[in-house]
Parts: sequence; structure tokens; C-alpha cells
Amino acid sequence: MKISIASDHAGFEQKEHLRAFLEGLGHEVCDHGPATDDRVDYPDYAVPVAKDVAEGRADRGVLVCGTGIGMALAADKIAGVRAANIITPQFAALCREHNDANVITLSGRFVEPEVNEEILRTFLTTDFGGGRHAGRVEKIMALD
Ligand code: RB5
Repeated sequence: MKISIASDHAGFEQKEHLRAFLEGLGHEVCDHGPATDDRVDYPDYAVPVAKDVAEGRADRGVLVCGTGIGMALAADKIAGVRAANIITPQFAALCREHNDANVITLSGRFVEPEVNEEILRTFLTTDFGGGRHAGRVEKIMALD
């Protein structure tokens, strides 16, 4: 899978860890930075990842900040993106099955790296359920 990833300073360490994790799984990862943990503004990093997904350059997006909340708020402003802030593997499965999320936003400060690994693995291997969920997702996308 082609995966676009970025973080802010609060998510930098886990972004580095998760990029290596994804590459180890055999994914093609495009890292939009940052390259250090110097303080940055998370919307500046959310947008390139969201646009990669919206414009078809990436299959999925991964964003890491302190909570994941700011990244989700910013990424969801880009038409075509369904970003979900996820802190448990169960919610990772549900954001795929029910919501067809194409961008996941993670917490670098409140969730352990091993849990984020499991969240990512679940996010990347769970299919959209379709059926009754499809019309609901279409209604979300009609709001773009
Ligand atoms: C940075 O201090 C923090 O606000 C940011 O990483 C994120 O948690 C925002 O939602």
C-alpha cells in the first residue's frame, strides 16, 4: 500500500517509529516530515498528507500529534478525506468497517507505540463493510 505520513513535534518520535514499522510491513511510505522535533504547527503537516490521499497519490494517510485531535480536525477539511482520531484497535476496526476512514490520526503523547502499531495494523487490514454503511458515508461525502 502507498501510505503518506506526517506529524508535528509532539508526534515526531512516534512518527519516526511508525514509519519504520510500516516499511517493515512492506508498505511504500512517503514521509512529509518534520525531520526534527522542533516546534511546528500541525495543520501545516496534516494538509500534504490529506491531499496525497484525496488526490490519489496515497492509499491511506497517517498523522501523529499530541492527541491526534488537531490533525483530524485539519485533515477533515480537505475534500475526499475521512480522517478519524483513533486510540484503540477496536475503534481502528470500526472506523474502517463503518466509516471507510482513509486517514488515521494518532496520539504520540497518550498512546504507547506498541498500541499505535496494533491500531495501524488493524486500520490497514480492515475492509469497509459497505451495505447499510455505504449510504451514510455517501451522505458525509456530499457535505464536502
Ligand atoms: C501541541 O502542543 C499539541 O497541541 C498538538 O500536538 C495536538 O495535540 C493538537 O491537537
